[in-house]
Amino acid sequence: MTPGRFESSFSAASTLASMTSNSSTAPVKVSISLVDRSYAIFIGSGLFADPLTYQHLPSASAALIVSNTTVAPIYAARLKAALQGYFAKIILCVLPDGEVYKDWQNLQVIFDALLENSCDRQTVLFALGGGVVGDMTGFAAASYMRGVPFVQVPTTLLAQVDSSVGGKTAINHQLGKNMIGAFYQPQLVVCDLDVLTTLPPRELSAGLAEVIKYGPIADMVFFGWIEDHLGDLLAGDKSALAHAVERSCQIKADVVGRDEREQGLRAILNFGHTFGHAIESGLGYGQWLHGEGVGCGMVIAAHLSQRLGLIDTAFVDRLTTLIQRAGLPVKGPILDQQDNAGRYLQLMRVDKKAQAGEIRFVLIKQPGSAAVMAAPDALVRDVIDTCCQ
Ligand code: NAD
Ligand code: GLY
Repeated sequence: MTPGRFESSFSAASTLASMTSNSSTAPVKVSISLVDRSYAIFIGSGLFADPLTYQHLPSASAALIVSNTTVAPIYAARLKAALQGYFAKIILCVLPDGEVYKDWQNLQVIFDALLENSCDRQTVLFALGGGVVGDMTGFAAASYMRGVPFVQVPTTLLAQVDSSVGGKTAINHQLGKNMIGAFYQPQLVVCDLDVLTTLPPRELSAGLAEVIKYGPIADMVFFGWIEDHLGDLLAGDKSALAHAVERSCQIKADVVGRDEREQGLRAILNFGHTFGHAIESGLGYGQWLHGEGVGCGMVIAAHLSQRLGLIDTAFVDRLTTLIQRAGLPVKGPILDQQDNAGRYLQLMRVDKKAQAGEIRFVLIKQPGSAAVMAAPDALVRDVIDTCCQ
């Protein structure tokens, strides 16, 4: 085992608020504590279309709602109506739908809308959509006039439990995922569980990958709860979803509150992502969903953890079973017929955690606690050969 340049671990038991059973969908508030960049995440039903949700935003004459061709027709009019009392001008910017459009060209579409409408520095951007819309809107907000306020209204499970929280914003580059971006926190996150009713089942499963992630890295009590309630979650049970979103946001808020800019600890949130991002970019963006890459990536990373002697095969099997039950792939795809493992390694060297060409993985030290480490290429190759079809 080769330790990385830093090792960070995180155990939920002593530091996080104790898990409560949330049997209702009454709005709850999770706070992100970041001094002057602190904000609230509201979780509940009937939130995004309620004007009261937005009552504490900074005053401005204009708002720009960024959404996409799938989400805008369903939800944009209701968000616009809720914002009507606060902004004299509300502009809607609709992007094409898909990971493949998370690029410079479509970021430019947001800037075009802002400039063509003479939007000033007070203009508030609203990201109405999944992680793609959220990441792009956040990046646009970070850079338009060197920074304007923005609000996350996440409409996928994945975005509610992960991407809308914590201020990572980015677009993709053909050579690497999320390679161009900024840390930039929203003013508010509005997780309305009602919008998840229109989410396709495949997208719900993708979101569950990021929910499951929080177990092995931080909270095995939560992991057990997911195992017990997976059927409810897959069936869209609002009470179960409310608890999953709340607990995920609590864990993420705690990690981000300690390490906003990923100097160490925050990297554990990338469990499964090193392999997952390689799959996403290796296949071409949009072939596998982000959550599918993460789900399968967690299985591969768990195998690597086991091969390094950190965890036993029983836990690898337990994690794999849950990921499979969630409807996610557990075998990696072949990215190169000649040298598959070599292709994975090549793609993973572009990962943001890599240092001086050395890939560093988020590995499970013991169930509920993660660390960032390097591993010998030969071992990684072997694991990839075992885990990919
Ligand atoms: P996505 O944004 O592509 O949304 C998935 C699909 O669901 C899209 O087709 C979208 O139009 C549709 N959709 C969204 N809400 C819907 C609704 N309520 N009803 C019906 N359809 C709906 O994908 P995602 O899984 O939400 O996000 C993945 C992205 O998030 C990736 O680009 C990933 O890199 C990024 N991400 C960022 C962070 C972060 O910390 N910033 C964390 C995790 C993932
Ligand atoms: N999704 C990983 C992070 O926010 O750090």
